[in-house]
Amino acid sequence: MATKVWAHRGASAYAPENTIPAFQLAIEQGADGIELDVQETADGKLVVLHDDTVDRTSNGFGRVAEFTCQELKKLDFSCGMRGYEGARIPTLREVYGLIKGSNLRINIEIKYDATPYPGIWDKLLQTEREMGMAGRILYSSFNHYVLLKVRELDPDSEIGLLYGNAMVDPWIYAQRLKADAIHPHYLAAQHCPGLIEGCRDAGIAINAWTVNDAQSAAALAASNVHGIITNCPDVVLRAIGR
Ligand code: G3P
Ligand code: CA
Repeated sequence: MATKVWAHRGASAYAPENTIPAFQLAIEQGADGIELDVQETADGKLVVLHDDTVDRTSNGFGRVAEFTCQELKKLDFSCGMRGYEGARIPTLREVYGLIKGSNLRINIEIKYDATPYPGIWDKLLQTEREMGMAGRILYSSFNHYVLLKVRELDPDSEIGLLYGNAMVDPWIYAQRLKADAIHPHYLAAQHCPGLIEGCRDAGIAINAWTVNDAQSAAALAASNVHGIITNCPDVVLRAIGR
């Protein structure tokens, strides 16, 4: 099994994170999939942004949940990267429109804890159906209740459990939640004895984040992790011999 490479917020080392240029670059670099984050606007639209405020990545200030989609579209999300002035925040539908014609998969991270978006699971699944993206999406979240909700509403949906610190026997927890994958920070994965064998025997995939150096990527691929989530797909693809 060749380790898959997921572009974290797109090829975000080279283009503004979570924007169409970053996702386009991920396609061009040969990534197997993209990872992105979703938030919900004041008028109930799903937009692609990591933080629950626009402060860090745009020329505006304030909480996403207090802007309409149209208001957000006026902001510059180039994040200070030269050559990308005027980059706009994409809606989830716009990203689906870009990815649909390719063979890439999408890992949607559902942001929920800083600002909860009750019912976002309904909107996500509806958008997936309407855009014909069934079978192309892997939902992940640090909030595992949200993933259970997604799974309850659509038993065919794929879910990956995000976590940052080392867990004891995470494959047992993942089996209990009937998850398809665990998404550990790559250092947490390295500090977990028996992780590879435990997950392999339990049928749980491992997608490690966020790996940007060639040496760590090569070591993870050699240990047969299913996926590496990275800001620089080109570096990781080269490091793992693809
Ligand atoms: O999916 C891995 C990673 O995206 C989780 O952390 O903060 O980059 O969204 P963060
Ligand atoms: Ca993320």
